[in-house]
Amino acid sequence: MEQQKRYGHFDDQHREYVITDPQTPWPWINYLGNEDFFSLISNTAGGYSFYKDAKFRRITRYRYNNVPMDNGGRYFYIKDGDTVWNPGWKPCKTPLDFYECRHGMSYTRITGKKNGIEASVLFFVPLKKWAEVQKLTLKNESSETKSLKLFSFEEWCLWNAATDMENFQRNFSTGEVEIEGSTIYHKTEYRERRNHYAFYHVNAEIEGFDTDRETFVGLYNEFADPQAVMEGKPRNSHAHGWSPIASHYIEVTLKPGESRDFVFLLGYIENEQEKKFSAPQVINKEKAHALIAELDTTEKVDKAFAELCEYWDALLNIYKVKTGNDKLDRMVNIWNQYQCMVTFNFSRSASFFESGVGRGMGFRDSNQDLVGFVHQIPPRARQRIIDIASTQFPDGGCYHQYQPLTKRGNNDIGGGFNDDPCWLIFGTVAYIKETGDFSILDEMVPFDNQPGSEVTLFEHLKISMNHVINNLGPNMLPLIGRADWNDCLNLNCFSWDPNESFQTTENVSEGTKAESLMIAGLFVVTGKDYVALCRKIGKDAEAERMQQAVDAMIEAVKKHGWDGEWYLRAYDFYGRKIGSNECEEAKIFIESQGWCTMAEIGAEDGLVAKSLDSCKKYLECEHGMVLNNPAFSKYIYEYGEISSYPEGYKENAGIFCHNNPWVIIGECIAGRGNDAWSHYAKILPSYVEEKYQTLHKVEPYVNCQMVAGKDAFKPGEGKNSWLTGTAAWMWYTVSEFILGIKPDYDGIRIDPCLPETAGDYTVNRKFREAEYEITIHPNGAQKGVKSITLDGQAIDGTVIPYSKGKHTVEVTM
Ligand code: BGC
Repeated sequence: MEQQKRYGHFDDQHREYVITDPQTPWPWINYLGNEDFFSLISNTAGGYSFYKDAKFRRITRYRYNNVPMDNGGRYFYIKDGDTVWNPGWKPCKTPLDFYECRHGMSYTRITGKKNGIEASVLFFVPLKKWAEVQKLTLKNESSETKSLKLFSFEEWCLWNAATDMENFQRNFSTGEVEIEGSTIYHKTEYRERRNHYAFYHVNAEIEGFDTDRETFVGLYNEFADPQAVMEGKPRNSHAHGWSPIASHYIEVTLKPGESRDFVFLLGYIENEQEKKFSAPQVINKEKAHALIAELDTTEKVDKAFAELCEYWDALLNIYKVKTGNDKLDRMVNIWNQYQCMVTFNFSRSASFFESGVGRGMGFRDSNQDLVGFVHQIPPRARQRIIDIASTQFPDGGCYHQYQPLTKRGNNDIGGGFNDDPCWLIFGTVAYIKETGDFSILDEMVPFDNQPGSEVTLFEHLKISMNHVINNLGPNMLPLIGRADWNDCLNLNCFSWDPNESFQTTENVSEGTKAESLMIAGLFVVTGKDYVALCRKIGKDAEAERMQQAVDAMIEAVKKHGWDGEWYLRAYDFYGRKIGSNECEEAKIFIESQGWCTMAEIGAEDGLVAKSLDSCKKYLECEHGMVLNNPAFSKYIYEYGEISSYPEGYKENAGIFCHNNPWVIIGECIAGRGNDAWSHYAKILPSYVEEKYQTLHKVEPYVNCQMVAGKDAFKPGEGKNSWLTGTAAWMWYTVSEFILGIKPDYDGIRIDPCLPETAGDYTVNRKFREAEYEITIHPNGAQKGVKSITLDGQAIDGTVIPYSKGKHTVEVTM
């Protein structure tokens, strides 16, 4: 049998994915930085850096969708005689004697060898520092002395990544730099309204430099053969306008066996207005000097790296499972949690599919992301909830997105996505259950960031619920607005104009009958949570009021939302059914099956079981469950963007991984462990790693947003990796519903739902100021806890009451 090509493998001991061939089927990237300063880095060192906001504070330039793909990054050129090569293979693409890229937790190490020289670069952003470290180690493994010429390379972005790529009549005249010793400063626009600059430093004497791109590269050359490098001669150029870059030139002689470290530092500095300059037009470099001094030796850098590793040790120690199944354990203990941190940090803003200029932080996205992250650093989740709620309007509606730098709602996209408010309950409840911190409900939070408009966060939750109740349609189901979770089901936007955005065009909402069963299910799930929260804090009347609304919604779904074998998806503008057997295409959709089964609507009459069976029958395929079936084969202007996609892609019958867990949770709540597991394993990266090597194309260590569905030209192709709600939902599903360790107000609820084949397993869970070692004995059961002992004593019910300290828990199913 022909051996399938492999590009890499997991190294669980080091928590790394090891890429052994630079020519992966798509750039396989990693993220550096945990707060404030961030970088994207591919397996060939492509990518870019930014401070907080990938649009407004882009530090280095990157050209998306380029030819060749992934062109631009932080490059080291090594000129050894006539051979010029890069440790990460690109951009020169000189064949290497050895190549390896190790993507780890917030760091990447790329190693290349050529003609007896090893070059290894460790990339990371030290904790609490606004800088990317690039520690380059050159080692002479040959038996002769080597004289090498080393060139570094970064290209500056002129801060606003959007105007950087369009406003050339201005851009080509604004670029400014300063050079001081081994540091190149980027100070474009510093003379006017900016009080920030960047720098690129190396902790060694340099023999030359370049700061003007065309002088360094040559107008008719490329990153693959920059003139200065090819000739082995820096030009010592000073950029004035055009395109500023930063390149150091160092001559290195290494005896046989000798190695030498160079610490390169890409930093970002903000100065106070009155301390901007040290002399007329000369930037005040005090803070840069201080930052450099903190990271200017191998020892200091190694220490910073050790701290970063300890930080991840601590984060990944909060929830640890041991099932004996490596594929599951590595996703739960390492990669899924890692991806959750990344999605929490970036929402949907910056990846190799999101350009960093299009979107800021999503209201619904961020609320969901934090459910995957809240156990890691609760105070950051707390702040995020306040930031999100601050973009709400007094009627409970909200901005769909906000910019991370300003935290202001994004006017370009506006609001009107009627599922958005519900997610605030989802996020807040998860936070309180994790932390027991009810004080967040008393936090004073403004509307639309307007000072003076503050009300308590609890009030925000209340108006969120009210927003649904106040916007019901003719069937007493929630009006959909511009769209619900499915951004592309645009029922109030009848567009024949290709220049109109489906998201922001709402041509015809007056008199609309467009209602969403997805929001109905979401409302019931979050409504029940809200009721329980109200009871918990003694707001019984409010609990009663909302319980009635939830009950009414359940009745409305049973009456107007059931199609016989599954839940309908929606009613369109005219009140016609969507996602019904009566429809010509797209007879069934996944979102309403997920949310209405999670809400257990009509479970007593068999609706939940039928719906879940229909998902298996009509939506499931080899690679997961598709969003709708059959796919739309033509554009339907009453439906909007969803039908704009060719069959099998994105929201038109793609496997939109984000929503698969909704059905899986539905399965878990219904106690169908075998089905839950088989759906889960289909989209669990480690389980299908083989497929990622060729068919899926994208990174095998994280989930991607979308895998082409069964109706696609090429089913199984993955796209939009990294930034997807799938991360948080996969985490929520496996940690709380499959493995069954569920934070609750008064303790941890134990309620696993497993395949019959599951063996005993142990979860170590840090929870508030306690630590639990929980061993589960499934005994072949899919669901149902029979007995629990806490520190040897039997307890009643399934909630382990919270108390400080270390505890041992045994669970028999
Ligand atoms: C968006 C989500 C949306 C999903 C489905 C994603 O790209 O970030 O907000 O729910 O697509 O349309």
